[in-house]
Amino acid sequence: MTTKADILLGLQWGDEGKGKVVDVLTPRYDVVARFQGGPNAGHTLEFAGNKYVLRSIPSGIFQGDKINIIGNGVVIDPALFKAEAEALKKSGHPLQNRLLISKKAHLIMPTHRLLDAAYEAAKGAEKVGTTGKGIGPTYTDKVSRNGLRVGDMLDGFDEKYQKAKQRHERILQSLHYTYDLREAEAEWMDGLEYLKQFQLVDSEHLINKLLNEGKSVLCEGAQGTMLDIDFGSYPYVTSSNTVCAGACTGLGIAPNKIGQVYGIFKAYCTRVGSGPFPTELTDETGDKICTLGHEFGSVTGRKRRCGWIDLVALRYSIMVNGVTELIMMKSDVLDSFSTICACVAYRINGEEVPYFPYDITDNVEPVLVELPGWETDMTGMQSEDEFPEEFNAYLSFLEEQLGVRIKIVSVGPDRAQTIERYMEESEETIDQSL
Ligand code: GDP
Ligand code: IMO
Ligand code: MG
Repeated sequence: MTTKADILLGLQWGDEGKGKVVDVLTPRYDVVARFQGGPNAGHTLEFAGNKYVLRSIPSGIFQGDKINIIGNGVVIDPALFKAEAEALKKSGHPLQNRLLISKKAHLIMPTHRLLDAAYEAAKGAEKVGTTGKGIGPTYTDKVSRNGLRVGDMLDGFDEKYQKAKQRHERILQSLHYTYDLREAEAEWMDGLEYLKQFQLVDSEHLINKLLNEGKSVLCEGAQGTMLDIDFGSYPYVTSSNTVCAGACTGLGIAPNKIGQVYGIFKAYCTRVGSGPFPTELTDETGDKICTLGHEFGSVTGRKRRCGWIDLVALRYSIMVNGVTELIMMKSDVLDSFSTICACVAYRINGEEVPYFPYDITDNVEPVLVELPGWETDMTGMQSEDEFPEEFNAYLSFLEEQLGVRIKIVSVGPDRAQTIERYMEESEETIDQSL
């Protein structure tokens, strides 16, 4: 019996809490697979009093002997990968035999990181505010057919590496960018050797074989839809397809083999780096959300910009991803607010626009509606029966606005602080299928 792969992805500007929920859902799956992005991601998980941040390794790694796959759509920095894998090993979570890496995944070279910095410097005030991990230059090389892949390690690597490095150095020189590569390059080469101990696979064959055998697969997105290279707030985006279709190209799963699409969002909104953010709050309310939500980048430590939930952008994200179930995170951050706002439309040049427009850089003002807050500490709640009336009203309002039900609500960073809704319905569905 062939199964379909489910996808979990971010609907805002990243950091929605994907890592936490993938970890929570992993016991229901046999396989967890990352399909795009790289060490620009920082996926945080908390359980048993410990906190972990994953960058390139799938968030299914903490739940027993599940198969974890890094797909062809991911970009890997061997030096950062080694640091991440070694930290996991030290904490009692060795990866051998549980982590498989696609031979078609592209390698982030030390010179890609330099190019990232050089391009950002050249952009000046218009810089993207990247994570500095070399993501853009690596995907650029992939698309321009100049990239180095994990599988290249196995044959004629030195020549390919030197050729790519020289090409990068010519660009760096033309940008008058000064650098010293020696330390980073030595670390990188060491990481490359380290990578060789893992099973390097043709992951598209493997995943399809597993699906054909009836195994269940959860695809883990990185970043968020508003950072997608095609549909995000271009040019202030990342360089991969973060949307649902990215799982098809980033893992080799055909569209007709996609099952549920879990869209994850915060009860408010954040963004890190430059670019438009229509609901941004630059006042004390924004500071309050930032403080209560600990909104600092898990990779860069940068302060995240905070604002009200943007339903115009969320509706757009739900549309381009075909979201079937919603997951709302960090509602506890709003526990002490007496009123909560939600953006239901944009006002552009005096006109109300209910859909996400081509460009949100200029003159976009949010049209906000105010809702009563629940003013209740929800962090210890275990079931939806305990939800305050105002919180239920907030959920109903969002479901009506977004047209998709909110299946999971997260009320704190810990694995245990997760509440599933519509449980009776799920049981009924299971009964019927038996
Ligand atoms: P990801 O990149 O989507 O995996 O998200 P990040 O890990 O970058 O950022 C989410 C942050 O919020 C992390 O620090 C999580 O530990 C934390 N977090 C996740 N869910 C909740 C929640 O429901 N409430 C609170 N207060 N924090 C949460
Ligand atoms: P996770 O998976 C939030 C942002 C950067 C920058 C832009 C481009 O943890 O949600 P890049 O380094 O990718 O070229 O940067 O994208 N960005 C993220 N923002 N969460 C992320 O990942 C991000 N990955 C990249 O801040 O604005
Ligand atoms: Mg993150």
